[in-house]
Amino acid sequence: MKREDIDRLLAEVRDLKCKSQKEVEAARVRLLGKKGEITALFEEFRTVAPELKKEFGRPLNELKQAAQARIDELKDSVVEEASDGPVNDLSMPGEPFVLGSRHPVSIVRQEIVDIFRKFGYDVAEGPEIEDDYHVFEALNFPPNHPARDMQDTFFVSAGHLNPILLRTHTSSVQVRSMETMDLPIRVICPGRVFRNEAISARAHCIFHQVEGLYIDENVTFADLKQAILLFAREMFGPDTQIRMRPSYFPFTEPSAEVDVSCNICHGKGCNICKGTGWLEILGCGMVDPNVLEASGIDSKKYSGFAFGMGLERIAMLKWRVNDLRHYFENDMRFLHEFETATEV
Ligand code: DAH
Repeated sequence: MKREDIDRLLAEVRDLKCKSQKEVEAARVRLLGKKGEITALFEEFRTVAPELKKEFGRPLNELKQAAQARIDELKDSVVEEASDGPVNDLSMPGEPFVLGSRHPVSIVRQEIVDIFRKFGYDVAEGPEIEDDYHVFEALNFPPNHPARDMQDTFFVSAGHLNPILLRTHTSSVQVRSMETMDLPIRVICPGRVFRNEAISARAHCIFHQVEGLYIDENVTFADLKQAILLFAREMFGPDTQIRMRPSYFPFTEPSAEVDVSCNICHGKGCNICKGTGWLEILGCGMVDPNVLEASGIDSKKYSGFAFGMGLERIAMLKWRVNDLRHYFENDMRFLHEFETATEV
């Protein structure tokens, strides 16, 4: 038996460190187990000459006690790693709470609604599953108008007198408002619309529109122009110019399409406005007398204007999104871009 063996093990015991309870148990077995190193020294001690017993006996007992004490200490103090058991450390930083953010289409819809609310418009809504009457007939669509074709419209039940279909525009809410509201009417109608289109960067089978309608005595095209100009300046900035181009819609006469001056190049021409300095944002016009009469409004006494715009298109111009499909794919990398977006 050598004194160095005892001293070496004593130093080792004092310095013993463990990262888990598994390691504490392994250390116990290695030192004090049946075949442990300290147990082996006790075996050896039995063969030591009687005159030397005193020299080795005391340090050997001290070593055993120190080892047992150190093992007990480690058993009480070693905390399991998180994955091995419950986390007891309440001072650890918490798990971050993932907050959602608003979708770009919702942000734009809210902005448009807020602008028209300031002008005194109420919000009106109508069903997404509509009938032919509210989507086409009451809006003066001729019986063979191509929009009534299966190519463009999703029919729920075709072939009957008034087929049920998914609305192709929010102009149907105009009709429902005229049917149910007292005059004068000032409404803004946001909603989802559906068209039978092949999905691409520029077309989708689902998108969103906002319809506007104002009916009162003596409403003129000048009122329409002023309303659109004020809207465009609130939406795209105070220097925005508008221009109106003659157009055709069955439900308005005269009809126009409205462009705003490109707020990216300020009229100089860039790839967003395709070098023209103008960006198309909506369709509008004076409500056709046939449309007023279909909903029981006296077209001799009342006149009005209507307009309609696509929300994805406005959002595209605002944030320069070049592919409509991004709005519907819920790719988190795209959605996170709008976490801090509030204004133009
Ligand atoms: N409903 C039209 C569309 O979906 C948009 C529109 C154009 C609405 C002119 C109107 C309007 O109220 O006057 O393309």
